Parts: sequence; C-alpha cells; structure tokens
Amino acid sequence: MAKILTLVFIILSLLASSNISNVNAQLRATFYLQSCPNLQTIVFNAMREAVQREPRLGASILRLFFHDCFVNGCDGSILLDDTPTFTGEKNALPNQNSVRGFEVIDTIKTRVEAACNGTVSCADILALAARAGTVLLGGPTWVVPLGRRDARTASLNTANTDLPSPFANLSSLITSFSNKGLSPRDMTALSGSHTIGLAQCFTFRPRIYNDTNINPNFATLRQSTCPVNGGNSNLAPLDIQSPQRFGNDYYQNLVTQRGLLHSDQELFNGGSQDALVRLYSVNQLLFFIDFAGAMVRMGNISPLTGTNGEIRKNCRVIN
Ligand code: HEM
Ligand SMILES: *[C@@H]1O[C@H](CO)[C@@H](O)[C@H](O)[C@H]1NC(C)=O
Ligand SMILES: *[C@@H]1O[C@H](CO)[C@@H](O)[C@H](O)[C@H]1NC(C)=O
Ligand SMILES: *[C@@H]1O[C@H](CO)[C@@H](O)[C@H](O)[C@H]1NC(C)=O
Repeated sequence: MAKILTLVFIILSLLASSNISNVNAQLRATFYLQSCPNLQTIVFNAMREAVQREPRLGASILRLFFHDCFVNGCDGSILLDDTPTFTGEKNALPNQNSVRGFEVIDTIKTRVEAACNGTVSCADILALAARAGTVLLGGPTWVVPLGRRDARTASLNTANTDLPSPFANLSSLITSFSNKGLSPRDMTALSGSHTIGLAQCFTFRPRIYNDTNINPNFATLRQSTCPVNGGNSNLAPLDIQSPQRFGNDYYQNLVTQRGLLHSDQELFNGGSQDALVRLYSVNQLLFFIDFAGAMVRMGNISPLTGTNGEIRKNCRVIN
C-alpha cells in the first residue's frame, strides 16, 4: 500500500511539475484540430515543394524559427517587413542579408488562409515549417505544441543583443541560451542544426585564418573560397560532410576540428560540452532525441497566447 501511495505521489508530482513548466506556454498540439484540420498537411506539402526546389530552404526556415524565438519569444516578429513607420528585425546584424525563406512562409500562409481564414498564426506556421524542413532533410520529427499568436511589435535592438555571435566563446554561448531558459545541453543539441545549410565567408574568416584548433587541410580548403580581403558573402557548407542531410556529422566534424564557425568549435575545445559532443558524434539517435526535446523547449519561449497579440492576415505586416 505504501509503495502504491508513493508511486501515486511520484506520478502526481511529475504531472504537477510538467504543468508548472507549461504555465507560461499554454501551447498544445491539438490547438487547430477543429479549426484547421489540414494545417499540418498544408505546411508539410508546401515545405516539400520548397525543399525539392532548393534543399537549403529546409535549413533557412529552421534558422528563421530560431531567430524568431530568441527575440521576444516565438511570436512571428522576424517575419515583419520594415516600413517608413515601422522598424522590424530583418535588418539587425545577425539577420541582414542572411536570414531567408520568407517567400516560403508567404506561400504557406496564403494556402493556410485559403483553407482556414483568420485562424492560424504566422508564429505557429513557422514552428511547423521548421519541423518539416528538419524532417525533409532526414532529421527527427516531434510533436509541435501550437497556439502561439503573432506580435504587433518587433525589436531590432533585441535581435542585435540576444542572438548569439559566430565569434562567441563557450561561456557566452551558454549565457545566451540560459537567458532564454535553455540548458547547455539544449544549446549543444540545437547547434546540431549546423548539420545543414551554408554560411558566409565573413562569419568564419577569423576562424580559418587565425584559430589554432582547426584541421589545417580544412582551413586551407575553406581559405580557397574565403580570401583575407573581399568575398564576404561567399558561401561554404556548415557541415563539410553532407550539408543537405540532417544527421550527426556536425559533431563528427567538431571532434576532428572541422567546425566551420568559431562558435561551433567552441563546443569541442576542452570545455564542458566535449563529452556530449563525443556522445552525439557516435550516437545519432541520442542527438535526434535531444534535438527534438530542445526544439520543443525553444518553441516554448515566451509565446503570446489567449487574447494577446493577433492572428496576422499577412505575415509581413501587422493587421
Ligand atoms: C549556438 C549559437 C549559434 C550561432 C553563433 C549561430 C550562427 C550562425 C551563422 C553565423 C550562420 C551563417 C549565417 C550567414 O552566413 O548568413 C548560421 C546558419 C545557420 N544556423 Fe545558426 N547559429 C547558432 C545556433 C543555431 C540554432 C540554435 C539553430 C536552429 C535551431 C541554427 C540554425 C542554423 C541554420 C539551419 C543555418 C543555415 C541557414 C541557411 O543555410 O540559410 N543555428 N548560424
Ligand atoms: C475571411 O475572408 C473574407 C473574404 O473571403 C474576408 O472579408 C474576411 O476579412 C476574412 N476574415 C478574416 C478574419 O481574415
Ligand atoms: C568570453 O567572451 C566574453 C564576451 O566577449 C568575455 O567577457 C569573456 O571574458 C570570455 N570568456 C573566456 C573564458 O574567454
Ligand atoms: C588575425 O589576427 C590578427 C591579429 O589579431 C589580425 O590583425 C587579423 O586581422 C586576423 N585575421 C583575420 C583574417 O581575421
């Protein structure tokens, strides 16, 4: 009897604690079950078309979601265009001439509006599209909690201060994520997103010329298309092995000192994340499980819910 009571107590505590961690979120996977039953199919099909056309779009949309969530929460703020009277986030330093994929979100929004007019937020579309991009490139899937609403504001300033820099060291990366309620383990798992997509020369130039914790052949290879002067926007794959396949190669690269960004290699440079990086490099399943969990936690950052914010008609402009 005592054992049963203990078990009941443990279960109740688990339920209570899971509720507590969801109190500010109030998101749920079934949010549009009645109001927009085809939502997930619409998003997935549009993303499949986009990724077939250009695989990198899977990566670009995943990054958009990250840059949305880290700036005042997952509220679609990154999607807002600048106007003469409104300053959005698209021209913040980490975003300008860098974040992309907005046309894909427009296409999805148009189709979603045609199916369920005025119902689904741009923030939720982005959360679903980011998962679809991951899955379409071979990554894990997860259940996406929904019910976010769209911001009526954006913050260029917060985009400049809260998005981590590719020149950051480990402690500053850990702080950036901890400021958003994410653990060092979440940070290391989410950085595995750099298994897909491309980066511009200026984001990794000091690394390939000046860092010492870099494989020399890899440095030479990257220098061939990223000169000391000029070529700032020349592209290189974040994952030297398979930039269009979502896998654990990123961690294998780190173990062999072939991380592209200085910030990438900081995760494997004799510090606190080395053991986890090694683990992910030999255990893709563990990486996938941790990544999926971390994506849900990142997606829970300060959403607008209930009657806060709005359901935008056009993701680029407030209603
Ligand atoms: C840990 C801190 C992070 C830093 C410093 C960082 C920095 C960067 C930089 C500099 C680029 C290249 C941008 C360009 O050259 O235009 C990039 C690309 C990318 N990042 Fe991150 N990132 C971080 C974390 C993340 C996270 C958490 C995600 C997603 C959950 C993510 C997803 C991506 C993707 C998918 C790309 C490729 C985008 C494309 O090809 O369009 N990154 N990141
Ligand atoms: C729904 O569509 C109609 C036109 O078909 C439009 O007038 C109306 O504003 C839309 N409702 C919302 C909430 O967007
Ligand atoms: C990491 O970077 C921050 C910010 O640039 C700096 O203040 C700090 O001293 C650095 N820490 C280490 C261990 O180098
Ligand atoms: C490498 O470091 C030196 C000394 O700090 C600096 O002058 C130079 O600009 C750096 N080179 C690159 C490509 O970042």
